[in-house]
Amino acid sequence: MEAFNQVGTLRLRTEIPGPRSRELLERRARYVPQGVSFATPVFVERAEGAVLEDVDGNVFIDFAGGIAVVNAGHCPPRVVEAVREQAGRFLHICFMVVGYQVYVDLAEALAKAAPGPTPKKVMFVNSGAEAVENGVKIARKATGRQAVVCFDHAFHGRTLLTMTLTGHLTPYKDGLGPFAPEVYRFPYAYCYRCAYGRSYPGCGLYCLGAFEEGLEEKVGGRNVAALVVEPVQGEGGFIVPPPGYLRGLKEICQKYGIVFIADEVQTGFGRTGKLFAVEHDGIEPDLLLVAKSIAAGLPLAGVIGKAEVMDAVHKGGIGGTYGGNPLSCAAALEVLKIINDPAFLARGGQVGERLARFCRDLQVRHPLVGDVRALGGMVAMELVKDRETKEPATAETAAIIQYAYEHGLILLKAGRYGNVLRFLPPLVITDDQLEEALSVLADAFASVTGG
Ligand SMILES: Cc1ncc(COP(=O)(O)O)c(C=O)c1O
Repeated sequence: MEAFNQVGTLRLRTEIPGPRSRELLERRARYVPQGVSFATPVFVERAEGAVLEDVDGNVFIDFAGGIAVVNAGHCPPRVVEAVREQAGRFLHICFMVVGYQVYVDLAEALAKAAPGPTPKKVMFVNSGAEAVENGVKIARKATGRQAVVCFDHAFHGRTLLTMTLTGHLTPYKDGLGPFAPEVYRFPYAYCYRCAYGRSYPGCGLYCLGAFEEGLEEKVGGRNVAALVVEPVQGEGGFIVPPPGYLRGLKEICQKYGIVFIADEVQTGFGRTGKLFAVEHDGIEPDLLLVAKSIAAGLPLAGVIGKAEVMDAVHKGGIGGTYGGNPLSCAAALEVLKIINDPAFLARGGQVGERLARFCRDLQVRHPLVGDVRALGGMVAMELVKDRETKEPATAETAAIIQYAYEHGLILLKAGRYGNVLRFLPPLVITDDQLEEALSVLADAFASVTGG
């Protein structure tokens, strides 16, 4: 197989989408429901590192990373090799029927890698949503309480409970109810659009006091089993809370005996320059949820939690047929070795710094860029029509994304109004690829803003 070039990666041979992709799009429209949507109208032939080649031979740089799934890159050779080796021995046993070592090895490695001194245990499931569902079940059993607290702009998945926990109506919930009971929602620390009209740092984290007051008024802290929070909101628009916010939430949880669940499905596995984003705040969550980049694309998710909390559930109360599939566990063990290496984490931080610098430079030149948000390699910019009114520039965001993929860069939007450009390149992206991608993005801005 021809290796992708390291310099001058992009190669566009056809219009985008090309003829073979168009053919597949037609078949897709005939046989796959429209509810399963897509961001880029091409079909992939192969992928490696930070690069995709489509079925028409066009080569793209990937700033979506399968929605935060390939922090370690597409098809890292040692992961592919571990999966091949595992596939040659057994594919499925079901850990609840007969044990296998790779599950225990991974549980041990994650228990040791998770932040905080308290001994941990780990259980595996298949998707981020299932990790959230199980985290809440465990918290309910551990506390004997029912209520769950979540936040505006949160995204926790598409199952009944996680859709309920998710903040935005469209597209995730519209007409898809009824929703799960005992879910209580509060404003998040979205400083660019503060729910209380305050500004940081002058506000003195007013939102924390308001949260505690609202908690007591709406439900009573003593009735709450779990607080589920993303350390940086992902689908919500890469909303980075100010320093002290997460720690404040954790303290409120401690005060009322609420299980603090950090949903690190999108923030985890090196994306923010640390293995887990809560490490930036020096917090030890009671339960920490992992998925996405944990296994480089094989379906795997997990709940890592304080042993005492995890063991609250009786035998058979949690689990599942495929949870901790041997192929996924074998992949994840290698991914963890790749990512939990100081050099890799530092590289993630460097990629993030370059992206954030690019965004801030753009912000100086283009009034369209209202806000730039970054934590390590989790970088986004929120686009507005007017910096005073902050009216979302939704159509402009869509136009930039379209220009980008037509010129070889795969990009994702996020946010309540679809006006946030978020960057999730595999963290193995080379400097040359990064610069090439950023020059497409600069052109996209110029083409949409006319300068
Ligand atoms: C923070 C967060 N939690 C949960 C999920 C749901 O994960 P999955 O799509 O694997 O169910 C996502 C997916 O984007 C997410 O970003």
